[in-house]
Amino acid sequence: MPRHLIDIQDFTQEEIAALIARSEDIIARPQDYQDSAARQKLATLFFEPSTRTRLSFEAAMLDLGGSILGFASQDSSSATKGESVADTIRTVQCYADIIAMRHPKEGAPLVAARHATVPIINAGDGGQNHPTQTLTDLLTLHREFGQLHGLTIGLCGDLKFGRTVHSLIAAMARYPGVHFVLVSPKELVAPDYVIDVIKRHGATYEECRTMDAVMPKLDALYMTRVQRERFFNEADYVRLKDSFILTPDKLKHAKPNMIVMHPLPRVNEVSVLVDALACAKYFDQVRYGKFIRMALILKLLGRDAA
Ligand code: ASP
Ligand code: CP
Repeated sequence: MPRHLIDIQDFTQEEIAALIARSEDIIARPQDYQDSAARQKLATLFFEPSTRTRLSFEAAMLDLGGSILGFASQDSSSATKGESVADTIRTVQCYADIIAMRHPKEGAPLVAARHATVPIINAGDGGQNHPTQTLTDLLTLHREFGQLHGLTIGLCGDLKFGRTVHSLIAAMARYPGVHFVLVSPKELVAPDYVIDVIKRHGATYEECRTMDAVMPKLDALYMTRVQRERFFNEADYVRLKDSFILTPDKLKHAKPNMIVMHPLPRVNEVSVLVDALACAKYFDQVRYGKFIRMALILKLLGRDAA
């Protein structure tokens, strides 16, 4: 049976440590990996829009010497004719050795995995999970702090529908001494199942409605976009979309080495004036995304031996 990555908790902390170490090696010695996935094909099946995730998967496979195929929108696939996820996967695995899939329905990549004879990677499913963004985030945190334990992480914005938040919490809750500061309007608080994950792993959390008072205690502030596409009505989105806007002024009381993260795309929630500050790490996240996806592809293809 192939290994899949559907939920970040599919991987142990040891496996995540190995992926981070492999990414560091790829960053240091990219030429050593240029044929590591030669003659292998990655299919990217994106039933939802993407810039970073799809292109970083494709760049990752190309840099490993492999090839890519796929589609970038539901409209250009036979899903629009009514084809099921199961039949799509049965088809694509005839042409590809590994599949990265993004879908608006929660659980669609899990359904895909149940019908797959090749590894399936969840590249984002509805408002639920985004495990490869989390790998990117973990690599960023590890590069910045040299460790993942003992960090206080503020997550701000749409904690209800933000799948990157759900996966990041699920990953980080397993490391000792992690504290989450959950900042959102009351309409966009983290779902109960996410809070349960924090409690189950013995991590700690607090919930609040404003950033200012908590800023001095954070090691990392993870900003998120209000997820317009998950709202049932536009009026609610318009009312909530600018709940938090991070400006340089708001960072005045942050720790000197605090970092600002964002999975991107950004809309209004981080002022472009923050981009020039040393704490802004969101474009570093973008860059690291390719390297950790290279490590992931090698792992799932069974080519991760040194
Ligand atoms: N790009 C991330 C995602 O697909 C975050 C976002 O869209 O706000 O979940
Ligand atoms: N971070 C992220 O998933 O970006 P895209 O939606 O552009 O892929």
